[in-house]
Formats: sequence, structure tokens, C-alpha cells
Amino acid sequence: MAPARKRKITVVMPALHDGQAEVLDALNHHRFIVAAMSRRYGKTFMGGWKVTESALLTGGKYFWLAPSYKRAQEGFDLIDSFVREIPGQRTFIHDKRFVLPNGGTIQIGTTRDPHEMRGKGLDGVVLDEAAYMTPETWTDVVRPTLLIDQGWAMLLSTPWGLNWFYEEFRKGESDDPVFADWAAMRRTIYDNPMLTPDQIEQERLTTPPHVWLVEYMAEFHDQAGAVFNNPGAVMNAPMAVRPRDVEGDVLVGGLDWGRVEDYTVFSIIDATTKRGVYTERFQDTAWKVQRARILEIYNYWKPSVIWAEANAAGSPNIEALAETGMKIKPFQMTPKSKRIIIESLALAVADKEISLQNIPARYDEYLAFQQSVSADGRVKYGAPLHGHDDVVIADALAWYGVDHAFDNSVSLRNYSGLYRSRDRRGKLARRDYGVNRRRANLQRRGVR
Ligand SMILES: Nc1ncnc2c1ncn2[C@@H]1O[C@H](COP(=O)(O)OP(=O)(O)O)[C@@H](O)[C@H]1O
Ligand SMILES: [Mg+2]
Repeated sequence: MAPARKRKITVVMPALHDGQAEVLDALNHHRFIVAAMSRRYGKTFMGGWKVTESALLTGGKYFWLAPSYKRAQEGFDLIDSFVREIPGQRTFIHDKRFVLPNGGTIQIGTTRDPHEMRGKGLDGVVLDEAAYMTPETWTDVVRPTLLIDQGWAMLLSTPWGLNWFYEEFRKGESDDPVFADWAAMRRTIYDNPMLTPDQIEQERLTTPPHVWLVEYMAEFHDQAGAVFNNPGAVMNAPMAVRPRDVEGDVLVGGLDWGRVEDYTVFSIIDATTKRGVYTERFQDTAWKVQRARILEIYNYWKPSVIWAEANAAGSPNIEALAETGMKIKPFQMTPKSKRIIIESLALAVADKEISLQNIPARYDEYLAFQQSVSADGRVKYGAPLHGHDDVVIADALAWYGVDHAFDNSVSLRNYSGLYRSRDRRGKLARRDYGVNRRRANLQRRGVR
């Protein structure tokens, strides 16, 4: 057989701007690039560009990873635009994978399905918006895949609190030879050559100051508009739990009613272990059907109490359910009471005091959940425009119940049997301490 002839193809890649080229150049000297960069700097573009170029030059295996399906689609579309015209390349739309004529592959993945990466030896990985990924993505999933072939990684992100991305950034800044593989770079919106000073000023005037510092000045701050600092770290409660697995524990429910286009969410947390055991999210159903479903879940799990949002549609539904003998209590949601339950939940997440099941909507909602400060200094919490926060609210109500589960004012089915008076005093004393500590922590973190 005649030896296969090598065919040379020419691919024209778009030009990078100087700032992007500088970052990619750092990869010639370091294996791990940690780049904290402003929004719209061109992170996604340059990451997609780099995996494409590398796959074309080396024929190796590359991965481009995003923290959500939406972001993954953005990466897919971008890389598709780079390789579409290359003769002989194949695109696997369903798998979000590109195979180039030289055998090089580019796989788009999300941290929702990180198992796709396990067991693979990769030549290079881009983590787009890395700060929004769990630290385990980096330590347990990405790093091992790079070991075999000494592959490189680019961690590109806007900062997000002082999480693992910040720690990696610090390694890049460090002079310690242990971290010689790491390089850190920081670029603000003013370093972006694609924008004019006028455009930047326009952006600044329409952006809240704390968002500006983090997302446009790429500064690492303890708290941004984000409420939940690294929620992925607590989304680790076991998934398939049955009531008999938690027998004897005090269970507490939180219920957030869906209005038009919203979901009704019923979240049950084990107050004894502080773990979520069950969450149901349903939509677009008649109230009567919803109540029947809630009753069914209640009878199955037998929570000691359910705290239910009592606004508008909530009240009559709560009354109807209470009539069946259900231990359901109305929670009046006001800006102030909402703040209390959200801050309590935020702290539980920050302290990893709570653990929750990683159901699909939960992580997204927690990530998106925002704090905004109005001109008169009032703090408001909620999902960004068009987003959902039903799971967060249901969890916050359940967590409120957990917080009060051992309080005298709430009479609980399991209470008297579980805690004798001495234990109870101990519990109450500890609870007081907890409140003070909580307050101290909140002040420390600048939450008023
Ligand atoms: N080198 C480049 N050439 C042309 N367009 C670019 C370049 N870099 C970025 N862009 C465009 O600028 C915009 C912002 O880039 P993007 O990569 O989405 O920024 P980021 O991910 O940092 O928010 C996008 O529309 C992108 O297509
Ligand atoms: Mg991007």
C-alpha cells in the first residue's frame, strides 16, 4: 500500500488583541495560567481560540469547560465558527465535540457533567469562568487529566469572592518555586483595547460600584453582588435518601409557592444532620393538585413543621393544608424577614454548615442569587431579572425552621422525645452563641 500522503491545509484564525496574545504567550513559560479579567475582555474568545489553535497544531486532545450549559453553548458556537470551514473536520453537535482532520479533538464540557473528563489524558484544558466552578473541578477532575501528558490549563474568569480561583491566582503571584508552573495575570476593563474610553465610562455609570470593582476592575473582594460564596461546596448531600434512612431525626420543610411562570418548591432539611433530604419543584399546576402533592410528600416524610411563604396565593393554600392536620406555618415574607432568612442561609453556606442535594436548578439559582443595595442603603435580595429563586427561598424557609427547630416557641413532634431538659438547655445556650457568632460574622463580612 502506498504510504498516506500528508496533506497540508491552511487555516486562517482571527487575530487576537494584544492583551489576549500576552496571556497566551505566558503559556509558553508556565503550565497553568490563572487570569482574572474583566467582563467582555475576550476570555471566552481567547480560550476557544487557544484550544482550536493547539488542536490544529498538535493533533492532541483538548477540553473547554464551562460552568453552565448556556456558557457551554457559547463556547461551542465560538469554536464552531473557527473550524466550520476546515475541510474534513467533523462536528458532533450532540456531544459538543470537534474532530479535526489531523485527529485533534476539542471537547466542550460543563462542570455539570465533569465525569466526561475523568480517565482522559488531555493536552490542554480551558476553564471558562473558572471561579464559578467548584474547587473539586480543578483538583479532582482537571488536574488528574493533565498529569499524564503534562498538559496545560488556562483558568480564565472574573473574580468571584475569595474562593479557590483566588487561591490559584495567589499561587501564580507567588515567588515560591513550588508554584513555578503557575502564572497569574489581572486585566481590567481599561486594559481592553476593543473598547473606547467613552464606552468604558458609559459602562461604569450604569454599573453598581461593588459590581464594577469585581467584574470590571477584576479585583478580588470578599463579597460582590453575590450572596452565596461558592455554593457548589455545600451541594454534596446524598441524593437517594429515604425516610427510614433518617428515622428519629427532626425534619423541617420549607415551601415557596409559585406564581405565574414560577415554580412551587418544597424543600425538606434534616435539622439533626443539617442535610437536605428531599426537594420537589413543580410548575403550572392547579392549586388543588399542588396541595394534594404537598400532602403526599408530607405524609411520606412527616416533617415536624413546614414553613410556608404566606403571601398572596400562599395564605389560602396554607389554611387548606392546615385543615388536614398538617403542621404548616405561615411565614410572612417582607423585605426585612426575607433578609433575615437569606443571610442566615448565606452564612450556613459560607460556613459549610448546611449540605444540600445537587438537584439541577439549585446550583444555578444559588449562583445567580443577588444582593443589591438601593440608593438609601437598603439591601434587597433576589434572582436577577427573569431568573428564578424558588429553590433558594424554599431552602431558606426550611433552614429558618432548622434554626428554630430546637426553640421552645415551635412545638415539634419529635422534640420532647429527643431532647431532655439538660440537653435542651445546652441546645438553647449553644443556639444563643450561634446567633452572636452569626452576627459577628456578618459584620466581619460587611453585611449589615
Ligand atoms: N480577538 C478578537 N477579535 C474579535 N472579536 C473579539 C476578540 N476577542 C473578543 N471578541 C469579541 O468581544 C466580545 C467579548 O468577548 P468575550 O470572549 O465574550 O469576553 P469575556 O468572555 O471576557 O466576557 C465578544 O463579542 C467577542 O466575540
Ligand atoms: Mg465569557
